[in-house]
Amino acid sequence: MARVVFLCLLLSVLAVAQAADQTAGKAPRLPLNDGRSIPALGLGTFLGFDEKGQKAAKEREVENAVSWALKAGYRLIDTASLYNNEHLVASGIEESGVKREDVFIVTKLGTPEQRDVLGSLRKSLQRLNTSYVDLYLIHFPIAFKADLKTYDVIDYLDTWRAMEEAHAQGLARSIGVSNFNVTQMQRLLDNCRVKPAVLQVEVNLNLAQEALLNFTRQHDIQVMAYSPFGSLFDSNPAPPPPRVGDETLVTIAGKYKKTTPQVVLRYLIQRGVVPIPKSVRKEKIEQNIDVFDFELTPEEMDTLSKFNKNYRLVWPTFWQDHPYYPFEQSDKPGPNPFEGVKE
Ligand SMILES: NC(=O)c1ccc[n+]([C@@H]2O[C@H](COP(=O)([O-])OP(=O)(O)OC[C@H]3O[C@@H](n4cnc5c(N)ncnc54)[C@H](OP(=O)(O)O)[C@@H]3O)[C@@H](O)[C@H]2O)c1
Ligand SMILES: *[C@@H]1O[C@H](CO)[C@@H](O)[C@H](O)[C@H]1NC(C)=O
Ligand SMILES: *[C@@H]1O[C@H](CO)[C@@H](O)[C@H](O)[C@H]1NC(C)=O
Ligand SMILES: *[C@@H]1O[C@H](CO)[C@@H](O)[C@H](O)[C@H]1NC(C)=O
Repeated sequence: MARVVFLCLLLSVLAVAQAADQTAGKAPRLPLNDGRSIPALGLGTFLGFDEKGQKAAKEREVENAVSWALKAGYRLIDTASLYNNEHLVASGIEESGVKREDVFIVTKLGTPEQRDVLGSLRKSLQRLNTSYVDLYLIHFPIAFKADLKTYDVIDYLDTWRAMEEAHAQGLARSIGVSNFNVTQMQRLLDNCRVKPAVLQVEVNLNLAQEALLNFTRQHDIQVMAYSPFGSLFDSNPAPPPPRVGDETLVTIAGKYKKTTPQVVLRYLIQRGVVPIPKSVRKEKIEQNIDVFDFELTPEEMDTLSKFNKNYRLVWPTFWQDHPYYPFEQSDKPGPNPFEGVKE
């Protein structure tokens, strides 16, 4: 009898623990400088560009990805007004059965939206079918007119004041920026009332972002790593190595019975950044969050750090004559993939 009672007790304790775990998801949470916290890994939802501009979502592509991710234990979804998919993200969340309040939703103020931050955020909230986002980011320090081709020159400090207002009104629980450089971050810190909680920038094996990471560590700003895989899956030979079959990566992955993309994500997590890998394939989505049960050694971290080439994958040189362009200049600026998108 006592044994049966004990067994029942044990089973119910296990069930409660599992239910709690399902609420929290699979990734641990990291503290933000505003008292909130962010999951240590999330799902990216940007579908990329083709000849016609930004790729349109295929039937159910985004809804499925988001719903699979939440069921696999993701609790952070990264979207943006410019991705044209906030409404699909909302459906995916709804379909997953995971409660809104258990999901950390990130969206971004688009480059043509900077003259009306509150109005733009309200539109995002409508598309996302929610009354608040967990994190609202200024997508780029540069602004555009509605055609996405004509520059608009708006000081990002003015945009930030409206972000602070969105935060004060509770529409954005945390606020931050994306694609800002160190100089811009310093100027923002010198002139803000609410500090940015997060900086989202490209970080991967080829782009270590050491100076930015030093800066954000010093100022208690959490970095989110976009394009975390860098050129890992690129069939074009031009970008620097490694590729997915790289010998060094394969050796480390073999030791932990993991895949090389998992090793790359683990490396970023141990550097203290929040990677947001994008996938629309169920098994890859599940694989990408299965990175919290092993730990790379300091020697392995050092080996992986040697892939850094300060090579920027997302390098929008077509914007480089904008006064707030954040990156290095190029001798041969490329074509603007946003041209021919929405008129
Ligand atoms: N703030 C910004 O300006 C900015 C800029 C760029 C990106 N982002 C955000 O960051 C997210 C991630 O960046 P990203 O989409 O550029 O690149 P990424 O996540 O580094 O790589 C995505 C690519 O990797 C493939 N992939 C994912 N997991 C894989 C796995 N385990 N094995 C093999 N292939 C795998 C995906 O293909 P499948 O989908 O076919 O699996 C896709 O082609 C974006 O989706 C977006 O949310 C933000
Ligand atoms: C919006 O969210 C509410 C719950 O807050 C839900 O009942 C409704 O079905 C959602 N609408 C859509 C279109 O997903
Ligand atoms: C970052 O900080 C480390 C440790 O303080 C230092 O060794 C390194 O030179 C810094 N790197 C850059 C690029 O500022
Ligand atoms: C940072 O951005 C500013 C524009 O606001 C630009 O003048 C500066 O050159 C950039 N810094 C670097 C290191 O690219």
